Amino acid sequence: MRFLAILFLFYFVSFAQCYEGIMFDLLYNARTSMQEKRPMNIDEYGNNNNNNEAEYEAVYVGPQDGLKEADKIVALPGQPEVFFDQYSGYVTVDPNDEKALFYYFVESDNSSSTKPLVLWINGGPACSSLGNGAMMELGPFRVNKDNKTLWLNKFAWNNVANIIFLESPIGVGFSYSNKSTDYTSGDEQTAAESYTFLINWLERFPEYKARDFFIAGESYAGHYIPQLAQLILHNNKITNQAVINLKGIAIGNPYIDDETLYIGKYDYLWSHALISDEIHKGIVLNCNFSSPEPLSDECNKYLSQAEKARGNIFYYDIYAPLCDVPSNPDSGFDPCTDQYIFSYLNNREVQKSLHVNVTGQLPGTWMVCNYDMLVSWKDRHHTVLPTIMNLLSSGIRVWLYSGDTDLQVPVTSTRYAIKKLGVTLKTPWTHWDSQGEVSGYVVEYQNLTFATVRGSGHYVPSYQPARALELCSSFLNGRFLSQYS
Ligand SMILES: *[C@@H]1O[C@H](CO)[C@@H](O)[C@H](O)[C@H]1NC(C)=O
Ligand SMILES: *[C@@H]1O[C@H](CO)[C@@H](O)[C@H](O)[C@H]1NC(C)=O
Ligand SMILES: *[C@@H]1O[C@H](CO)[C@@H](O)[C@H](O)[C@H]1NC(C)=O
Ligand SMILES: *[C@@H]1O[C@H](CO)[C@@H](O)[C@H](O)[C@H]1NC(C)=O
Ligand SMILES: *[C@@H]1O[C@H](CO)[C@@H](O)[C@H](O)[C@H]1NC(C)=O
Ligand SMILES: *[C@@H]1O[C@H](CO)[C@@H](O)[C@H](O)[C@H]1NC(C)=O
Repeated sequence: MRFLAILFLFYFVSFAQCYEGIMFDLLYNARTSMQEKRPMNIDEYGNNNNNNEAEYEAVYVGPQDGLKEADKIVALPGQPEVFFDQYSGYVTVDPNDEKALFYYFVESDNSSSTKPLVLWINGGPACSSLGNGAMMELGPFRVNKDNKTLWLNKFAWNNVANIIFLESPIGVGFSYSNKSTDYTSGDEQTAAESYTFLINWLERFPEYKARDFFIAGESYAGHYIPQLAQLILHNNKITNQAVINLKGIAIGNPYIDDETLYIGKYDYLWSHALISDEIHKGIVLNCNFSSPEPLSDECNKYLSQAEKARGNIFYYDIYAPLCDVPSNPDSGFDPCTDQYIFSYLNNREVQKSLHVNVTGQLPGTWMVCNYDMLVSWKDRHHTVLPTIMNLLSSGIRVWLYSGDTDLQVPVTSTRYAIKKLGVTLKTPWTHWDSQGEVSGYVVEYQNLTFATVRGSGHYVPSYQPARALELCSSFLNGRFLSQYS
C-alpha cells in the first residue's frame, strides 16, 4: 500500500509539470499520510503557548538603509509601460545561517499612499508566490507564449492595494540559505520566518508601517495565514518592536481541516458526476476520515476506484482544458501558462532585473515548488480551525472564498469546515453579482464571510480575474459583495 501511494505521488508530480506545481500537494497527503496513524488531537500551534509572555524573543532586525532604493526594479524584460513602482530583493531573516527571503512588491498604480498593504502567500507547502500569485494569478503581468515578453493584467489586485509576494519559507523559489541547500521546514518555521521578514521589510519601507495590513492567499496558505496572523496578534501585544497593523485575512480554497477536506472531496466527485453512486456509497460506508486509524483496505479499494473513474481531468479546475491537447478551445486562461513562467523566471536577464542570482551563485533552477521540502515537511497540523476560531474572536476580518469548480479543495469541503466551526449565521446565503451577472454566492457569519466564485477553479484570480478583483476590493473595504436586486 505504501509503495502504491508513492507511485501515485510520482505519477501526479510528472503529470503536474504541465500545469502547476502544487498539483501534488493534497494527493500526497491523501495517499500517504492516510496510510499512517494520524494524530487527531488538536495541539494547535499558537493555541497553547501564545499567552505566555516569556515565550517572546525579539526577532532579528538588520540594517535597511539604502536597500529600498537598491531593490527598485527599473523594468522587467519585455514588460509593457506602467505607472506604478516595483521592487524586489532579499530580506535577511537569520544572519547566522545566512538565510534570506525573496519578495516582489508592486505598488498600486493610483494613489498608492492611500491604499492598504497586502501580503499574498501561495500554498504547497513550499510553492512560490512569485511564480503562482504574481505571474499567474493577481500580479500586474502575465508571460506571453514566447516566454520572453509580458502582457498587462488589467484585473491585477494592485488596482486596489500595494502587494507583497513572498517566497516563503527558506528554500522556496529564490529564497535561500548560504549555509545549506538541504532545506527542511514546517508550519511553525514558516510563520516565524515570515514574521521576521515583515518586521524587517517595514523598516525598509517605513512609509507602510502604520498602513492597514491584510494577508491573503490560497490552498495550503490556509495553514500559513492563520498561523502568521496569530503570531502577529500575539507579538503585537507584547513586543517593543514594530506593531503590525493587521486588519484581516482572506483565504481562497483554503486547506484548513483534513477531516472535512476528504469527506467534501468525495462528495464533490459524486455531486459533480465524476464517480458512480456505488463508489461513493463504498467510500461513505468504508472510509472513516474522522478516525486516527489508518484507512481500511476496503476503503482504499474504493478510493482507487474513484481515482480511476474520474480519469485524466485537471484537478484544479474540473472543466478546464489540458495544456498538452492541441485542439483546446480558447477558454480565456492559457493552461500552459506555468511553462512560460518557468522559462521567464529562469532567464538570466530577468533574474538580474529582479536582483537575484546576480553573480550566478544560486545553484539549480528556479522551480515553482520545492518537492523535497514537501516530502520532508516537519509539522502539518490536521486542522487549523482552533487558530481560526481565535482569529474570529480577536475581531479581525476573516474571509474564506472558494472557486466552485476546484477539486483540490472543493467548495463542499470548505462548507463542511465552516459548519464544524459552529459560527452563528448573520446574513443568509445569497447570490452576489458583478458585470451584469451572478458572480457567486455569499454568506455572512459572526466575524466570518464566506463567498464562492462561480465558474472558477483553484486559482481564482487566474480563472475569473474580474470577479476575483471585485471580491478583493470588497474584502479590503469591509463591504458586503454587491447585489443587483
Ligand atoms: C550569502 O553569501 C553572499 C556572498 O558571500 C553574500 O553576499 C550574502 O549577503 C549572503 N547572504 C546572507 C543572507 O547572508
Ligand atoms: C486615480 O484615482 C483618482 C481619484 O481617486 C481618479 O480620479 C483617477 O481617475 C484615477 N486614475 C486612474 C488611472 O485610475
Ligand atoms: C470514526 O472514527 C471516530 C474516531 O475514532 C469514531 O468516533 C467513529 O465512531 C467512527 N465512525 C464510524 C462510522 O465508524
Ligand atoms: C517556452 O518554455 C517552455 C519550457 O518551459 C518550452 O517548452 C517552450 O518550447 C518555450 N517556448 C518558446 C516559444 O520558446
Ligand atoms: C544562477 O545563475 C547560474 C549561472 O548562470 C545558473 O547556472 C543557475 O541556474 C542560476 N540559478 C537559478 C536558481 O536560476
Ligand atoms: C467577534 O469579534 C468581536 C470583537 O470585535 C468579539 O468581541 C466577538 O467575541 C467575536 N465573535 C465571535 C463569535 O468570535
